Amino acid sequence: MSQLSRSLRLQGKSIGFVPTMGYLHEGHLSLARKANGDSDIVIMSIFVNPVQFGPQEDFKKYPRNLKRDTALAKSAGVDVIFYPSAKSMYPAGYKTYAEVEGLSDILCGEFRPGHFKGVSTVVAKLFNIVQPDIAYFGQKDAQQAIVIRRMALDLNMPVEIKVMPIVREKDGLAMSSRNTYLSKNERQDAFVLRKVLLLAKDLVRRGKRNSSYVIEKMRLMIQEKRSAKIDYIAILDAQTMAPVKFIRGKALVALAVWFGKTRLIDNIVVNS
Ligand code: PAJ
Repeated sequence: MSQLSRSLRLQGKSIGFVPTMGYLHEGHLSLARKANGDSDIVIMSIFVNPVQFGPQEDFKKYPRNLKRDTALAKSAGVDVIFYPSAKSMYPAGYKTYAEVEGLSDILCGEFRPGHFKGVSTVVAKLFNIVQPDIAYFGQKDAQQAIVIRRMALDLNMPVEIKVMPIVREKDGLAMSSRNTYLSKNERQDAFVLRKVLLLAKDLVRRGKRNSSYVIEKMRLMIQEKRSAKIDYIAILDAQTMAPVKFIRGKALVALAVWFGKTRLIDNIVVNS
């Protein structure tokens, strides 16, 4: 991959890069299509990164299907798929990690210790291997995008980070490879995430600016669903992720909720 990237760059080609863990859906493909419009060559990585999963998490059962992914990626304009093995990414004796302090410990970082350290490390490695001009991330993982932006800035990585909108199912559930885990009931319950995010937007539009009031209303609606268990609901500054008590202007409403054994995240930007 390194050799190919070097030779593409020597030929003067611009490289757009879409890092993924595979089991592609429209969310991933929207990033690839955008990259295809911006750059000469689109490279997508498919790598279920073991170091971003906790010991009790779903690394083993994470869905994988390279054949299906290859066809979908091609159809969205991907030129090269980078599909490394875990052994080649983390050979014996591996010791180095990239960690974005503070931003990695809150929200999902609080409930998934070490997760963002794993994400920033693998993305730093992938950037070094692929050497992209532009890399694409989804707003679906809002905290991840903020962590990666911070890392690229802090470590002077010569790559532009573009963050693209959330792609949703027809009923509004954010697309995720993990949605495949949901039972029929859980899938129905999960619709509540979109409902409470829209509720938050509406409350703020109608002048409710007290974050704890908005969060409480959201919590009550989620708790009506039998399979739901809330990790967090938070209202934050969309750039710094500092908590926002009173909403003035734009704020990010983010949540993580379990449905049975499946943890889903989603968010919305509200504007008062
Ligand atoms: P993965 O979950 O496969 O997601 C790859 C990229 O697709 C991420 O930038 C994610 O935000 C984006 N994405 C996922 N669902 C989306 C949706 N519904 N709408 C828009 N974009 C969406 O995120 C990861 O993989 C990994 O942490 C990775 C960055 C590859 C590092 O291992």
